[in-house]
Formats: sequence, C-alpha cells, structure tokens
Amino acid sequence: MNSSPWWKEATIYQIYPRSFFDSNGDGEGDLPGITSQLDYVKSLGVDAIWLSPFYTSPNKDGGYDVANPRDVDPRFGNLEDAKELIAQAHKRDLRVIADIVPNHFSDQHEWFQAALKAGRGSKERERFHFYEANTDGTPPNNWISIFGGPSWTQVEDGQFYLHLFDSSQPDLNWENPEVNADFEKTLRFWIDLGVDGFRIDVAHGLIKEDVLTNHPDPQGLSDALRLDVAMDFEKRNALLLTVPFFDRQGVHEIYRNWRKLFDSYEGREIMAVAEAWVHPPVNATRYVRADELHQVFNFDLLTAAFNSDVLFDVVEQSISLNATVNALPTWALSNHDSPRVASRIGDEQARALALFVFGLPGSTYVFAGQELGLPDGQLQDSDRQDPMFFRSNGPSKGRDGARVPLPWSGDTTPFGFSNGKPWLPISQSWRDFTVENELADPKSSLHLYKNALELRKEFLVGAGGLTWLESSRHGSKEDALLSYSRGVITVVMNLSDSAKECDVAGKLIIVSGGTVDARDGKKVIPARSTAWFLT
Ligand code: NOJ
Repeated sequence: MNSSPWWKEATIYQIYPRSFFDSNGDGEGDLPGITSQLDYVKSLGVDAIWLSPFYTSPNKDGGYDVANPRDVDPRFGNLEDAKELIAQAHKRDLRVIADIVPNHFSDQHEWFQAALKAGRGSKERERFHFYEANTDGTPPNNWISIFGGPSWTQVEDGQFYLHLFDSSQPDLNWENPEVNADFEKTLRFWIDLGVDGFRIDVAHGLIKEDVLTNHPDPQGLSDALRLDVAMDFEKRNALLLTVPFFDRQGVHEIYRNWRKLFDSYEGREIMAVAEAWVHPPVNATRYVRADELHQVFNFDLLTAAFNSDVLFDVVEQSISLNATVNALPTWALSNHDSPRVASRIGDEQARALALFVFGLPGSTYVFAGQELGLPDGQLQDSDRQDPMFFRSNGPSKGRDGARVPLPWSGDTTPFGFSNGKPWLPISQSWRDFTVENELADPKSSLHLYKNALELRKEFLVGAGGLTWLESSRHGSKEDALLSYSRGVITVVMNLSDSAKECDVAGKLIIVSGGTVDARDGKKVIPARSTAWFLT
C-alpha cells in the first residue's frame, strides 16, 4: 500500500472554468461543462484538478475578484453543480483543489460596500486598508499596482484604499482578526463540501508593512515584478529584495494556523499550494516548512530559456532548496497568467520539456490545453478582457492569449466548446488541435501526455531523487544534452537543432518527437526531443 499522501508526487490539471467546456450555450465554460468532461480528464492520467475561481464575482479579473467566496457565480452554475462536480471527480478517483483568494475581495463584496457606507474611522473600513490622503491630496504612498497605475483609489469622502491589483480588488487587512475568521469559515465551507485542497492566490501578499512609506523607485519595482518587462538580472534581483508588500514574516503565522485547520480533518489529507513569487528563491521554502503548507509553486519554468544550463540550474536549485525543509518541488510549464509554453519556446521544445519534467521528483501541474500543445490564441485588442491590458495602457497585452477556450471537436470554430459565441474567439487555425483530432493521431501531443503520465505513474512516482548523467554544468562534453536517471528510468533531452549521440543503456519507452536510432552501441536522440529509457 502507498502510504505517501496523495498530493506528494501528483499530476494536477489546472482548469480555467470559463474556458474549459460550455454546457449551456452562453459562450462561457461552466461547472456542469467540467463535470461532463471528467472522463476525458481522467483519461489523461492526472490525479487531481485545480479549479481557478468560480465564485460569485463581477469578473473584472477573471474571477480573482471575489464578491462571495462561499457561493458559485451564476455564469458557472450553482452550489449544487459544485457538489456534483466534486462527487463525480471523486467517483473517478480525482481530487479537487479549489482556488482561494485571501489577499483581496471584489469591491462588490458586502464588506467593501459596507465600508464605503460606514465612512472613515468605522470598523467596516478596518477590514481593508483605508488611509487619508497626504496633505497635498496625493495618495498615502507612491506604490504602483501590479497591473499598472496607482495602488490607491480615492473614495467619495476623500480617503484612499489600497489595491495591489485592480481598483476593483481592495486589499484585505490581515491584522484584523475578522478577516482571518472569515477565511477560516471559507476554508471549512469548501472542505465540508468535499474539496481536497487549495491553491492560495498571492499567498505571499497578505501582510503589508510600512503602508505609509514611499518606495524609492516605485516604477522600477513595478517593472521588476512584471515578467513581460525586460530588465538587467542584477537590477531586477536588487529591486525584488525591496518589495514592501510581499513575503513579510507575518504571512507564515497565517499558514501555520491554516495547517492546523487542514490537519484537524483527520483522514482527509487536505493540502494547500502557495502562489508565492518571492525573492531570493530560498524564501519560497519557508512556505513549505513542516507546519505550514504542502507545496509552493516554482515559476521558473514559465520563463526559463530552452537552454541546458538554465534548465539544469532551475531543476537543481528547486530540488535542493526544497530538500532543506524536507519538501518536494513543483513544476509548471504554463498557467493562466503566462504565455503558453508552445508559443514561448516552440512546439517541439514544449513537448521535449514536458517529457523532461514528467520524469522529475515532485508534483507537476498541467494547464488545460497544454496537453494538446495549444499555442496562445491570436487576439485583437478589441477582444481583450484582462485588466492588465487596460491598466498598463498598452505595454502589456495581458493574459487573455493563454485563456482562449479549448477546442474539442469538429472542423469549425468554436470546435464543440460551446453552442454559442465563445467569450474569446477560437481561431479556425486550431482545427488540428481539437481533442477529437489528437485522439485519432497516435503522434499527437495528447497521446504523448497520456503515455508519459502513465509511464510516470508506473515507474517514477516514489522513485526518489535523481542522478545527473549529462549536463555541461557537470563537465559533460555535449552541452546540448541534459540527462538524468531516476529509479529504473533514464531521461535524455537533446536541446539542439541536430540529432546527438548519447551513451545510454536500456530500452526506449517513449520519445517526445522523431525517432531514436542506434549507432555504434549509442543512441541517437533526435533534435529538440526527449527520450526515456527503461533499464
Ligand atoms: C494571481 C492570479 O493567478 C492572477 O490571475 C490574478 O490576476 C492575481 N493573482 C490577482 O488575484
């Protein structure tokens, strides 16, 4: 019997509900739509689904602006639909992870509406960060929102409130015990409804310090926090050490309390994964100390170049840092906030990297559509809905490209996603990417993912640490190859544009693209490809 908790080396499939499957023809995905496709999800070989927010929300930030965290937004269905989804997932032995958004509420949440009415000095305003304007009428400090523009918005009576994201997302004041109590209620609500874990949004942002102090370089800091702004490495790192609103010590006390709450559900193995963009990287390990959370996202692979030294460093660092707190790393190539991996590094490279990552210790996250090799959707500015696009006034196109709905079947857009007009257009050029098409093609990305996840389960889950075999960091002659062994499997990735010989024993069991030949007792790994060998 496997005594390891279910999440430890799980493959977790991230579903962006609005873009997955539309069951009622309104052009937006919904909970019954997800339920109707659970057999497909199960067939991928994943262990759990993580659902991006589906709570009551005016949807100014794709549902990360929550107006009622203990109810379902009508666009996605209702609570009965959520219960049914969870029950059907469990029936298929799939765990369910819900997204929890503790840094901010929507400005439509009843607390914020009450705060606006109750006025300055009220208990209602103490649940948020309301401050007076400076004597010259300017906001209390010069911080810039992550989405661009000021982090402060003024209300009618002249006070300002803090919002690290959109003005419709007022930050909560976690020094106020009422906030903590409300979130514990929300956690219990969803655990009681059956969820198995939480993905914690902006987990590093809950505690702010020096709210009345200006930052010496607010624009530099804002740019440093944005992955789409190019910046000198040293400069970015120096600025990231000065963020006054992220990764304060106080956040850890919150998670220690949450951990107690999770553990109080005996026999349930409730887990939580932190979205914590922190610097330096060692700080991320604090979120997964034994009495805190279970996993913390490693975002490095969302931006890492397809280069053997870079990838070696990312993998090595994440494994070794996590080991200091007895935790395992997590891996993600795409999510709803970043360009899709196939668009970022290329289609063949994306397949190679996926197969390379599926062999690693720890937990892997797969963003729905990644298994199809989907690129980013091509959008007109008039299609865009992301507040990042609106608030940045141009430089950032926002994240809608990664959020275009999935193509399921047929020859014509919207490819079975909806009977209506999809909320973001699905290009006719996605015909070859439909689930239906890829199921029929044994060489498709979909088959690669299914086969790889099956082999991972059979040979690699619980296989322990890895041993590097080829890497230029270890003095290997061929810097185009990156190779490691874990248990009975040897994984070899060829990152170059030409086939490379590799001295590797064992039987080929999967290759991400092309054909592996044998030459003079060696294996020839195709260009931009990864192969697994069983020894
Ligand atoms: C991170 C989420 O992934 C992102 O989509 C959202 O915009 C911000 N947090 C704010 O909640």
